[in-house]
Amino acid sequence: MKHILDELETRRATARAGGGQKRIDAQHARGKLTARERLEVFLDPGSFEEYDMFVEHRSNDFGMEKQKIPGDGVVTGWGTVNGRKVFVFAKDFTVFGGSLSETHALKITKIQDMAIRNRAPIIGLFDAGGARIQEGVAALGGYGEVFQRNVLASGVIPQISVIMGPCAGGDVYSPAMTDFIFMVRDRSYMFVTGPDVVKTVTNETVTAEELGGAKVHTTKSSIADGAYDNDVDALIEMRRLLDFLPGNNKEGAPEWPSFDDPERYDESLDTLIPDNPNKPYDIKELILKTVDEGDFFEIQPDFARNIVTGFGRMDGRTVGFVANQPMVLAGVLDSDASRKAARFVRFCDCFEIPIVTYVDVPGFLPGTSQEYGGLIKHGAKLLFAYAEATVPKVTVITRKAFGGAYDVMASKHLRGDVNYAWPTAQIAVMGAKGAVEIIFRGADAEGIAAKTKEYEDHFLTPFVAAERGYIDEVIKPRSTRRRVARALAMLRNKRLENPWKKHDNIPL
Ligand code: HXC
Repeated sequence: MKHILDELETRRATARAGGGQKRIDAQHARGKLTARERLEVFLDPGSFEEYDMFVEHRSNDFGMEKQKIPGDGVVTGWGTVNGRKVFVFAKDFTVFGGSLSETHALKITKIQDMAIRNRAPIIGLFDAGGARIQEGVAALGGYGEVFQRNVLASGVIPQISVIMGPCAGGDVYSPAMTDFIFMVRDRSYMFVTGPDVVKTVTNETVTAEELGGAKVHTTKSSIADGAYDNDVDALIEMRRLLDFLPGNNKEGAPEWPSFDDPERYDESLDTLIPDNPNKPYDIKELILKTVDEGDFFEIQPDFARNIVTGFGRMDGRTVGFVANQPMVLAGVLDSDASRKAARFVRFCDCFEIPIVTYVDVPGFLPGTSQEYGGLIKHGAKLLFAYAEATVPKVTVITRKAFGGAYDVMASKHLRGDVNYAWPTAQIAVMGAKGAVEIIFRGADAEGIAAKTKEYEDHFLTPFVAAERGYIDEVIKPRSTRRRVARALAMLRNKRLENPWKKHDNIPL
């Protein structure tokens, strides 16, 4: 028996050594942790159950039969994060660059199947060069199987990808089909083809960072939802994010004990809106002052900053926040902001997370660059997402709600459950100046000024909308947390179903 136990230990030690000390040292020298070290940081201590540690590839081409490493470049299993079950796979860059073989794919699909069957989130830690080149179509087939499961899992369990090294090919397409992608600054890259292929095909000279670094994907392409300075920060933040997410689409938003009184008033909010309606203010201040303990996990903080999206809690329960940001482009809705918020709203709706919307929006951004770029279709995504969402929707208009953007931002007409406005709200087809110049074209300056005042007095208030019941109540800014928390409590058992359909046809 002792001999057998010793053999088990020896085999385990070989598997844990991955691609060998030299490659582990190289991994550390690049500022990266190994796959197992990453899982140690990410999971609760002692909770990791590893599977398929002894799986090896079956390739006999290009001398591969002489290079077999148990585990075959990916560490898989499950564990817990703050006591809640999660399935994990972590690419081991020290073994064939973490590349995906047929058997490597089977390890991942086994974990995906388990996650779907057991209805728990799945987190992939990526540091890998795509399909194992020596295996050809067997590797491509393996990716196909992974992709298929990504799609089946979508909307059933949360799927999170963390990009922690250079990633190419299938190792970017699979993350692209998950709910969230996070990156590590200066050492993770995502591209379909790397700089060498780009040079050959397009003759462009570009570095890996310029082609697919964290900066590019968090600010330009919007592929990534956030970036962190190092592996440890990224993994600790993923633990924090998971605390906000339900385990699956039936479980409901998670609840954690809160020490923040849901009835708390904040008098400073009464002066948040500047006297000058064209002066900006930071909408994040409103979010931070209304969520439990000021704890807010922002999604895509560096992309389309004219809209803010992220998770917070109200009375202990997760809520998705969407808020126009007057500090950036006056909070206007453009194509990027619409796409960003639409995806976030759909995530919340998939996973039964109530949505709170703070509105201060001067409208959609006019101009050829927006129109040529498909503003109609992108704006429609957000409109569609809010309209189809059946989760509780609570809306607070703080200042401007002009034109189509009024309708889009979780208005009463899109089945907003509770729609509040601050006394400073201005709900109208457009701002006073634009409106008067159209209605009273040709009037002299004095006439324009008089009509502008009349328009402002009449329309730029919340009361016309409140008289029609489009606004349920005009509330004091200081009471926003209390009002929103009470509305969400009232809506806890909300039941609303859309007509049966195979799936909708959102304008992609
Ligand atoms: C087999 C690979 C590999 C791969 C890397 N390695 N990628 N082995 N198949 N795809 C191995 C290297 O041979 C090397 O082995 C080790 O991993 C580390 O790689 P390096 O190149 O030394 O590291 P680095 O300089 O950091 O570059 C990392 C990299 C680069 C950017 C990922 O290796 C690279 O460009 N790889 C190929 C990427 C690619 O084109 N993949 C196929 C995509 S097609 P040793 O023994 O020296 O340690 C695809 C199809 C899916 O994925 C389709 C989706 C729709």
